[in-house]
Amino acid sequence: MKKLIAQGAESKLFLEKKIVIKNRFRKTYRLKEIDNKLRKFRTKREAKVLEKLQKINFPSPKPVKNNEKDILEMEFIDGNLIKNILEKRNYVKLSKEIGGKIAILHNNNIIHHDLTTSNMILDKEIYFIDFGLSFFSHKIEDKAVDLHLLKEGLESKHPEIWEKCYKAVLESYKNKAKDGNNILKRLKTVESRGRYKGRK
Ligand SMILES: Nc1ncnc2c1ncn2[C@@H]1O[C@H](COP(=O)(O)OP(=O)(O)OP(=O)(O)O)[C@@H](O)[C@H]1O
Ligand SMILES: [Mg+2]
Repeated sequence: MKKLIAQGAESKLFLEKKIVIKNRFRKTYRLKEIDNKLRKFRTKREAKVLEKLQKINFPSPKPVKNNEKDILEMEFIDGNLIKNILEKRNYVKLSKEIGGKIAILHNNNIIHHDLTTSNMILDKEIYFIDFGLSFFSHKIEDKAVDLHLLKEGLESKHPEIWEKCYKAVLESYKNKAKDGNNILKRLKTVESRGRYKGRK
């Protein structure tokens, strides 16, 4: 039986026999042609990035199939959203794991572009999901912005602990990321520009 498990900003997610079916629905405020293109692009992009992540053994759902239009099927990750448990667990340890994992993504030139604790699930380890806005880039700027977006999400969703979490994220990121020093230097510039407005 198909069961609705989440209703995202752009999609409905169903669970059927350990498979998640992500259906990007139509946004009526968008022009139909643009809307179709966007949903198709994001569905294909998410499938492509998830495939690449399987190849490098990165903890993320295995893509099963997609219709190259609006439906992506993938493995169900059976765990808790980091957003719902961060405060209740060892958040510094979890944050270090998050930082290390972002470094792996960036070392492979994968920019997530929606790094929030709603897009991370704790199973045996932390899995990353929601790669519809991701892209491939080796640029220091894109990596710094990715970290900055995480910071904004931590600040708003975890106001009591965000500073400790972000510090731990950056510490382990710096240890593992290629060119980590330069990326963190750039991050300071990004932050001095104020709230990042260039989010796609
Ligand atoms: N593979 C999965 N395994 C378990 N739960 C999942 C999985 N994929 C998504 N979810 C659940 O569904 C929620 C929404 O999924 P997701 O973040 O991919 O969609 P979205 O926020 O609508 O993103 P988009 O910006 O791509 O429209 C997640 O926060 C998570 O709770
Ligand atoms: Mg999401």
